[in-house]
Amino acid sequence: MITITNLSKNFTGRTLFQDVTLSIFPGEKIGLTGPNGSGKSTLFSILLGEMESTEGRVQRQKNLRIGYLPQEVRFHSQRTVLEEVTSGDSRIRALLDEKHQLEDEGRAAGTRYGDVLQELEVLGIYDLEHRAEKVLSGLGFEEQDFHRPILELSGGWQMRTLLAKLLVYPYDLLLLDEPTNYLDLNATLWLKDFLAAYQGTFVMISHDRIFLNDVTNYTIILENGQMAKVKGNYEAYEAQKGVEQKHLERRKKVVDKKRKQLERFTRRFHAQPNRAAAVRNKRKMIERLDDIELQQDVKSIRDFEFPPTRESGYMVAALNAVSKSYGGVKVYDGLCLDMTKGQKICLVGPNGAGKSTLLKMLAGVLKPTKGEIKFGHKVKCGYFSQTRLDVLSPNRSVLDELASAVTASVAAAQMRSLLGLFNFHGDDVFKLVKVLSGGEKSRLILAKLLIDPPNFILLDEPTTHLDLDGVQALTRAFQKYQGTLCFISHDLFFVKEVANHIIEVEGGRIRSYPGGLEYYLEKKRGGFAAPSKAQESQKSDKRIRREKPRAENTRAQREREQHKAALRRLSQIKNETAQLQKQIKDLDTESYVKARVLSNAYGKDKQLLKEYGARLKEIPGLQRRLAEQISALNEERDSIQG
Ligand SMILES: Nc1ncnc2c1ncn2[C@@H]1O[C@H](COP(=O)(O)OP(=O)(O)OP(=O)(O)O)[C@@H](O)[C@H]1O
Ligand SMILES: [Mg+2]
Repeated sequence: MITITNLSKNFTGRTLFQDVTLSIFPGEKIGLTGPNGSGKSTLFSILLGEMESTEGRVQRQKNLRIGYLPQEVRFHSQRTVLEEVTSGDSRIRALLDEKHQLEDEGRAAGTRYGDVLQELEVLGIYDLEHRAEKVLSGLGFEEQDFHRPILELSGGWQMRTLLAKLLVYPYDLLLLDEPTNYLDLNATLWLKDFLAAYQGTFVMISHDRIFLNDVTNYTIILENGQMAKVKGNYEAYEAQKGVEQKHLERRKKVVDKKRKQLERFTRRFHAQPNRAAAVRNKRKMIERLDDIELQQDVKSIRDFEFPPTRESGYMVAALNAVSKSYGGVKVYDGLCLDMTKGQKICLVGPNGAGKSTLLKMLAGVLKPTKGEIKFGHKVKCGYFSQTRLDVLSPNRSVLDELASAVTASVAAAQMRSLLGLFNFHGDDVFKLVKVLSGGEKSRLILAKLLIDPPNFILLDEPTTHLDLDGVQALTRAFQKYQGTLCFISHDLFFVKEVANHIIEVEGGRIRSYPGGLEYYLEKKRGGFAAPSKAQESQKSDKRIRREKPRAENTRAQREREQHKAALRRLSQIKNETAQLQKQIKDLDTESYVKARVLSNAYGKDKQLLKEYGARLKEIPGLQRRLAEQISALNEERDSIQG
């Protein structure tokens, strides 16, 4: 489909990648991964023909239809969500126009008309709406949102609309730049299943290894200016890399030993004229020995720590009967909430529940419609917005942007060394904000928080766009942070490691859980951990069967009752099946969460890792048993209905 030959790309003296040759074939599901700023999004721009390469060529198959999901960018459309998703691309629109024209001209009996219909059918246009609705629901849209104008939606939901559109159409090739960035857990899981079953071809950039593992069959790694495509998912790539590394290490040992021997020989005999030829010979051999360099893992960000902040009073923020509505829609009504020193609060809840609104009101970006928010003694607030351009100016340089965050004068050298921690080296600090990669922007905002750290930090999805090193460095820093934190994050690893308090926001109400993610999940699980419904149903089943018709019952009455009992049982079966299916899904979620935590764990808390590992092994068995219960129920249902 696409062939890349000897491709190189430089930006003012910096080489992103060099001499890359690879091809993309139909049916490949490729995961593209690599550190922030390595050039992944740039590669997409080149494949799309939006950007020139410095050297080399990209050949695209003729008439290749590429669907592209950019990393940021809002998209402008006057349509509603469903209209947009079903509106088709230029080819479909042209065909539809032609169809209408032929109809108008009374040529609906002609062969061309037949061809047009046939082509539209191949493109799956007839069950478009149905597919669109399914995909939109999967991505978390409620039915009433289907008909909302896109312009009304937040950036995150606009991206979802675009993603839905790409998934509904039969594109030849999809280029997806971090599609999970704006998705919550449920939508992520849905997308994972969708892409795993997807029949087409795609290249997907992602930093989420677990996600990549589940959906890809090829991997492209972009690192240190090199790009390599390997067969298999990320796990397979890592295994292969491990084998190569071991092989290299062994060879290096052999070569090092040889070199030492030769050097010893030349040292010992270099002064003896009768050995001069032999010494010369050995020196040549040393020169000819391979220089084996083991790849060092380069960290894309160094660990950083928040310097001590000025302590605030015990009470950090108090919301007093706060109400907030947008137009006619009430998001909060009379909300009361206290936040106290040292709390690291994670706001959870479905999309659109008002988490960002709450955070924005705390940050002072939005004013409550009614009520007030009071801050405690010496509280100083800092805000990391999900919409970066709220807090970054596109035309400033990186250095100026950082300087804008300090009140007192800070030496340029100090700022540059801080920027170095976040991987802005040398001339990088003079780059304009607008050319930064997604992850680089996130890093810059963090650097701004760090240079003069506030004691109350509000974060809206801080790990979005960050690579694995970035997420780990951030996690460690916020674990140690002494101030108070209130954040929204769909990165379960980050939430688990950082939060010590969870606030659930739903339907304008909040519920506080004074513990971390595990505690919260435990409490939530408690809700349906009651005796297995399937067992209960067996009991009631027996009850029904044992019910002996009383002697005085007429036959008709008996039949009526049996019929009623059967209907009752059918509805029970339906509920139980739904319950069991939910349990299977919950286990899926748990398994994804735990696998993610494991994949990011860096050697600490061995006990926990062991527990997680054991649980992960257990889950498929549990799911199998649940599935068996479901099929038993289905059989029973069929026998009743039959
Ligand atoms: N017009 C430009 N001028 C100079 N440098 C640029 C320009 N555009 C991009 N860059 C730089 O090129 C590098 C690669 O950017 P790119 O967006 O491709 O990274 P990425 O791999 O997608 O990273 P991320 O994981 O953060 O999204 C970055 O360091 C970026 O700052
Ligand atoms: Mg990118």
